[in-house]
Amino acid sequence: MPNYFALIPAAGYGSRMENQLPKQYLTLAARPMIYHAVKTLCQSHKITRVFVVLSPQDPEWQKYDWDEFSDKLTVLYCGGETRAQSVLNGLAAVPRQFTVEPNDWVLVHDAARPLLMQSQLNQLMDELAGDPVGGLLAVPVADTLKRSDANNYVRQTESREHLWQAQTPQMFRYQTLVDALNKTIHMNITDDASAIEAMGLRPRLVHCKDYNFKITYPQDLELAKLIIQKRRPQ
Ligand code: CTP
Ligand code: MG
Repeated sequence: MPNYFALIPAAGYGSRMENQLPKQYLTLAARPMIYHAVKTLCQSHKITRVFVVLSPQDPEWQKYDWDEFSDKLTVLYCGGETRAQSVLNGLAAVPRQFTVEPNDWVLVHDAARPLLMQSQLNQLMDELAGDPVGGLLAVPVADTLKRSDANNYVRQTESREHLWQAQTPQMFRYQTLVDALNKTIHMNITDDASAIEAMGLRPRLVHCKDYNFKITYPQDLELAKLIIQKRRPQ
């Protein structure tokens, strides 16, 4: 049976958050944002090991106490210029410390998606367990889509049929993902599935039915605070 590993790229600066502090360390429910993703992944019984990929100069991580996850968590200071490079550097570092088989599953999850829950994680792993390629959590596009010209005038309305917003975790076989990222590293890809697709493979979309949006802009953090508050047992 293949093992399951999780890898959390967290080497970005969060430029769209417009805050001095990289967004993965902004406070959310009395913790740094990244704590929530680390906790959900570490608590999964199926996942053997969780890797966090930080920037080589990250001064923030060590300011917090991570002892509660010490049996599962490994920190790698090898982030790169882009998300894809951070993921690839992290994947390359894994076998230096742990035995990993080519067929093992890797779940790549953004540090900036703190709302992931155990139920969504299980749904992803269960639905993809027998899949030769793997896939990702995603939500069907809900709004009407407009394509504009450079001046923000509508050029045309696009059909939203069969259109999805990609989320994470994105779950693929270790070796396939390494090969795919290596081949596409010069391309401007923003998720792992794009690299897999460029190899001619077809990731499966797993409909995520609860909140799992990425914290990108300041208002996302405000909404996430409310959702976490509401989810907490009263
Ligand atoms: N990430 C990374 N290495 C990079 C860039 C991004 O590990 N060089 C990580 C981020 O830390 C984040 C995830 O990839 O957890 C998703 O990326 P994104 O939301 O774009 O985060 P940032 O790149 O930090 O934000 P922005 O694009 O607004 O600058
Ligand atoms: Mg980015």
